[in-house]
Amino acid sequence: MSERTLVLFKPDAVQRRLSGRLLARLEDKGLKIVGLKLMVVTPDLAKQHYAEHVSKPFYPELEKFITSGPVVALVLEGPTAVKVVRGMMGPTNGAEAAPGTIRGDFGLSRQTNLVHGSDSPEAAAKEIAVYFKPEELISYTADLEKWV
Ligand code: RTP
Ligand code: MG
Repeated sequence: MSERTLVLFKPDAVQRRLSGRLLARLEDKGLKIVGLKLMVVTPDLAKQHYAEHVSKPFYPELEKFITSGPVVALVLEGPTAVKVVRGMMGPTNGAEAAPGTIRGDFGLSRQTNLVHGSDSPEAAAKEIAVYFKPEELISYTADLEKWV
């Protein structure tokens, strides 16, 4: 069953010019791009996205970080895409993330951790609606889907 997930390349990934390499990993896995844009997250948008964290002590730092520069926002589609992307990202803290994961291969930080991925299909639906208008998402069939 095909599923969609929201992915962000956070400001650190864009600043470090890792967007192409990160996207290549996700495409190589077989995930399909159905939405893609470069944008700046506003404080309002950050509060909608991270609603579950707004009251936590680390939230001000998180908002400062996520609004500090452009992000690449993506909607990716594929079988169990939410779980697949979370696995490819690795756990929150790069210092604890296994080699082979994005956070494990590219960072050492808990905050500056390169990538966001929705953590459930329900969160994905909410986050996709926060970041994209329906007309910005494109449904199409890719001929290679039966091979990956
Ligand atoms: P994300 O939501 O960005 O995909 O990351 P995640 O699920 O792995 O981690 P989550 O617990 O949802 O935290 C969201 C983001 O907040 C920052 N954070 N800082 N200082 C801290 O204790 C702390 N904890 C989390 C990270 O940037 C994390 O990705
Ligand atoms: Mg999270």
